[in-house]
Amino acid sequence: MTPAPISRRRAILLGGLGAAAVTTGVTGWIASSGGVGTGSRLAPADTGTDLRQPLLVDSRDGRLQVEITAAAGVYLAGRDTHALGYNGSSPGPTLRVRPGDELAVRLTNHLDQPTNLHTHGMRVSPLGNSDNPFLRVDPGTSFDYLIRVPPDHPTGTFWYHPHHHGVVADQIFGGLAGALLVEPPPGQAPELAVTADRVLLISDITLQASGAIAQPSPMEKTMGRQGELVLVNGQHQPTIPAAPGALQRWRLINACVSRVLAIRLQGHQLLQIAHDGTFLSAPAAKDEVVLAPGNRSDVIIRPASADRYDLTAEPFQRGSMGMMGMMGGGNLTSAAATLATMDVSGTPAIAPPLPTALPVEKSATGPAVTQRQIAFQMGMGMCMGGMTYAIDGRTFDPERDDQTTALGTIEEWTITNTSPLAHPFHLHVWPFTVLATSDNTPPLGVPQDVVLIPARGWVRLRIPFTTFAGRSVYHCHILDHEDLGMMATINVQA
Ligand code: C2O
Ligand code: CU
Repeated sequence: MTPAPISRRRAILLGGLGAAAVTTGVTGWIASSGGVGTGSRLAPADTGTDLRQPLLVDSRDGRLQVEITAAAGVYLAGRDTHALGYNGSSPGPTLRVRPGDELAVRLTNHLDQPTNLHTHGMRVSPLGNSDNPFLRVDPGTSFDYLIRVPPDHPTGTFWYHPHHHGVVADQIFGGLAGALLVEPPPGQAPELAVTADRVLLISDITLQASGAIAQPSPMEKTMGRQGELVLVNGQHQPTIPAAPGALQRWRLINACVSRVLAIRLQGHQLLQIAHDGTFLSAPAAKDEVVLAPGNRSDVIIRPASADRYDLTAEPFQRGSMGMMGMMGGGNLTSAAATLATMDVSGTPAIAPPLPTALPVEKSATGPAVTQRQIAFQMGMGMCMGGMTYAIDGRTFDPERDDQTTALGTIEEWTITNTSPLAHPFHLHVWPFTVLATSDNTPPLGVPQDVVLIPARGWVRLRIPFTTFAGRSVYHCHILDHEDLGMMATINVQA
């Protein structure tokens, strides 16, 4: 008898589920999944080459008009591959706009599946042909986006990527991502006195020897796939030239589908000036900056004496799956990786001082008038031997309004995670301020757009829905989870 398709509704949500039942389900998958870690890989051929910047496309006279084509076949890690790119490159071009500009993008789809475009972190309208995640651009077609950047938009580091539900992880893992920078108008930038301003878009991918993108096993999707190759701007462990004392600004973007990056630079502190596209109130010296998938940090590097220093991602524990961990869940850790090497040479110079205050984004003031409880859940389906990914007991339905609020409302959301795996929460359009987390991570105190909900923990957020009306989404930024249904809608009514 064919099991009725009721697994989602009947799903047991993992929170208090016994380990024995979990183990049974997982064993079933491993037997049928095959292929984990088998087959030969394409070895990178560009290790150690100088870091390149993606092509910069800049706005002029208040407008940036650009055509980008998504297609397979890019040069990655020094190899011709079947990976995906925009205009033949991964990452795609860096788009640079200023507050008040219009961003007009003609997206052409030369993939064999639908796609679309999301301007991650941008405070722009979710309606019509703006940052609308419900749009669908079919293979062989083009779509004209018009995104109006508000005059008071914060200036910093954002990114763009596809958002067609069901294939987001495949497409971003495949290479579709690019930086989107909002530059201050002349005369309004903080005095940073940097000699280099670099995008470091960090992605991961697994490539077969043939140059094809490796498909994840069901187990890898459960945990969120992590690629075997970690790349910076599509390069493997590039070299970043530097001179002692000459400041550099690095815009770190975590474009990995599931990998959490705990970033360190050997022998240096990271002077963090911004997070998720908005300045901190003052530069903060950190030994390590943790970026969940989707997060960005802008850091100032003050290169020390001539030597080589590794930029690394340190091992990061994404959860504790108990019995599941024993079933081959090495994937639960984001493993250590060398991202790049900074090569410092030349005569030492005295580094200029950094400003003591930075232009923080003004967030709406006033009391939070609405409280919501939201639960991120991961559970075992009853029939298919698969996992269910849900928010408040439901999987994604683009037609359903999961939350409704009125434009102008300031809300407080407590988001719980009943599962033993950390999930990065992301809300489009409306940034939030973290008030507290169950693991006592000190809140940054500035608006952000992705926050990690600790395993079996919670986060409390303040969200002003004061800027744009319209319908958009919040979801897990482990994009395998998002594709499997861990996404919901919010309708902000004018
Ligand atoms: Cu970066 Cu809804 O995504
Ligand atoms: Cu998740």
